[in-house]
Amino acid sequence: MRQTIVAGNWKLNGTRDSVKNLINGIKNGLDNNDKACVIISPVAIHMGLILKLLSDFSGIKVGSQNACANDSGAYTGELSCAMLQEYNVEYVIVGHSERRSLFKENDDDVANRFKAVKDSGLIPILCVGETLEERESDQTEVIISRQLDAVIDKFGVDSLQNSVIAYEPVWAIGTGKTATGEQAQEVHNFIRQKIAKLNQVISDKIQILYGGSVNGGNAKELFGKNDIDGGLIGGASLKADEFLKIIKAAN
Ligand code: 13P
Repeated sequence: MRQTIVAGNWKLNGTRDSVKNLINGIKNGLDNNDKACVIISPVAIHMGLILKLLSDFSGIKVGSQNACANDSGAYTGELSCAMLQEYNVEYVIVGHSERRSLFKENDDDVANRFKAVKDSGLIPILCVGETLEERESDQTEVIISRQLDAVIDKFGVDSLQNSVIAYEPVWAIGTGKTATGEQAQEVHNFIRQKIAKLNQVISDKIQILYGGSVNGGNAKELFGKNDIDGGLIGGASLKADEFLKIIKAAN
């Protein structure tokens, strides 16, 4: 059985005090019955504080919102996997649609970042997803395939071992417009079948998360679908109560 993952992507949010309250709120609301693997991806500058607050608590893992394909050198503004690893960060989101659209990371950049994360022993959360225009012109599977093939063609299907995929339809991110369970399941199943054609074992094991306006009210339905193994949560991960509802929906 694949363990459900509930990952919070805090994006560019939080102050010293607010992140402290938020992490403590989440930590205090968790209990031994919770089944999900909980991950928080804060802004880099808050990571040290969060890792310190979690030093005596193993129930929340820390992720980065991105990582550089290079280990060190003249790459202003980047964070390397070696640095993240030194600070006990375990997961790295790569290819988030905001990185792709606002910061012009193309499929090849994303694939190289993904590979660097893998090579360093961290776990990548590879984001894929179509825009509304692409969905309405029946391009969803073409786009998802292209985004996955950028990694598979360059580094092989084996690179997806011990990796996580997040399907985040761009039209559902931050819009309050969630994909229905059926819509999400259809794409998750497409992703899993695509991988199965290349490697059945990896396909059976890989966790595929859904992201896009997940909240305490819709998480249970989404997580109940066969190929949905949890969520990558934006806005709702910034409120402890709401995020906890999503975590509990995995029980
Ligand atoms: P929202 O949950 O705010 O729609 O964001 C989803 C997302 O982009 C997570 O990475």
